[in-house]
Amino acid sequence: QPQGLQVAIDGPASAGKSTVAKIVARKFAYVYVDTGAMYRTVTLRALQAHVDLTNETEVLAVLQHTKITFTPGNPVQHVFANQDEVTEEIRSETVTNHVSTVSALPAIRAALVKRQQELAKAGGIVMDGRDIGTTVLPHAAVKVFLVASVKERAERRYLENQAKGITTSLKTLQQEIAERDYKDSHRTVSPLRKAPDATEIDTTALSIDEVVDRIADLIRQKQDLTQK
Ligand code: CDP
Ligand code: CDP
Repeated sequence: QPQGLQVAIDGPASAGKSTVAKIVARKFAYVYVDTGAMYRTVTLRALQAHVDLTNETEVLAVLQHTKITFTPGNPVQHVFANQDEVTEEIRSETVTNHVSTVSALPAIRAALVKRQQELAKAGGIVMDGRDIGTTVLPHAAVKVFLVASVKERAERRYLENQAKGITTSLKTLQQEIAERDYKDSHRTVSPLRKAPDATEIDTTALSIDEVVDRIADLIRQKQDLTQK
């Protein structure tokens, strides 16, 4: 029985990373780790503690007092900050609009990357984020970079919001996504970037199943290679 592979899935907001990563993980009985949820949890806790989000030392202190854990769940896995479940709170608009500030802090990235590498050590993992293929798991067996047009991604967010009763306009969502894309790709420390050896998949016109099938093919190819 060969050891499970490391699968890295990166890309901009609403490209479909967490949706497909979760399904792929289930298919191969791998563990799914949502690194965005880790940055979101630190952001939530820092906001609740009323610390200045640009003050690296203070945000780091918040992080050091927060144990972030995941438990399986459907359709989303449960996220805990110490004993408290934060699964829903970390998806709020407030957290969403502040997370890029926190994720730009070098000390926060260093600390979370270390926790992520720890989680991936044993393999059998699907991890999604912005810098998994470039920084967290540079030796991952499978690296995928998911993209989709800003318009398509705003429409996806719009549909998700509708289900939650949130009425932010499409235009605002497009602006928010474009702004987060910009911040995530222009920060100094591990910006959002496709690893040279990652396979790019444009999901704009693809269904979730089609994206999952392509990634599953990439994993099977690697499994065949490592078994030979
Ligand atoms: O789901 P969505 O694409 O909106 O975002 P997410 O994956 O939950 O990540 C939220 C934010 O965390 C991103 O906009 C990035 O600023 C940050 N992030 C990061 O910097 N590095 C990662 N590996 C994952 C997320
Ligand atoms: O994790 P990330 O922010 O990249 O995206 P997500 O939270 O998985 O959200 C993607 C949204 O687009 C979900 O509502 C999916 O149902 C939808 N979608 C997708 O993920 N993939 C497609 N090929 C088409 C739609």
